[in-house]
Amino acid sequence: MRFAIFLTLSFFLTDAEADPRSHYLIHCMGCHLVDGAGVPPEVPTFNHDLAFLAGTDEGRRYLVQVPGAAQSPIDDAALAALLNWMLARYAPGESVTPYSESEISEYRQQILADPISERARLFAAKH
Ligand code: HEC
Repeated sequence: MRFAIFLTLSFFLTDAEADPRSHYLIHCMGCHLVDGAGVPPEVPTFNHDLAFLAGTDEGRRYLVQVPGAAQSPIDDAALAALLNWMLARYAPGESVTPYSESEISEYRQQILADPISERARLFAAKH
C-alpha cells in the first residue's frame, strides 16, 4: 500500500511542484506517518518538542543530524524548507528561528551515530 502511494506521488509530482509537504509525504511519511504521530518510542511523535529542540544550538544540530533528515535525498535548501514547514505544522504558535540553507549545509556534514541517546541528553538538560 505504501509502495503504491509512493509511486503515485512520484508520478504526479515534478520538481517544480515539489514543496515541503510533498517532500514530507515522499521521504518522511513512511516512518513518521502522514500526521507526524510516528511510532513511539522508536519514532518520536512530532509536536512542540520540535520547538524546544530548535531553540537551542545543540537541538538545532540534532534535528538536522538524525539519519532520516541528514540522509534524505533532497538538497540543503529543500531540507531547510521542510524542517521549517514541520516546525510551523507541528509546533504552531512557537517563535523559532527558521533554518537557513547554510545552517543545514554545515550541520548535515555530520550524522548522529546514536540519535536516541543524544535526544535523551538534550531533554535531560531541559529539566
Ligand atoms: C526509516 C525511517 C525514517 C524515515 C524515512 C525518516 N525518519 Fe525521521 N526519525 C526516525 C527515527 C527512528 C527517529 C528517532 C531518532 C533516530 O533513531 O534516528 C527519527 C527522528 C527524527 C527527528 C527528530 C524528532 C525528535 O523529536 O526527536 C526529525 C526532526 C526527523 N526524524 C526528521 C525526518 C525527516 C525530515 C524525514 C524525511 C526527510 C525523516 N525524518 C525520515 C525514522 C525515520
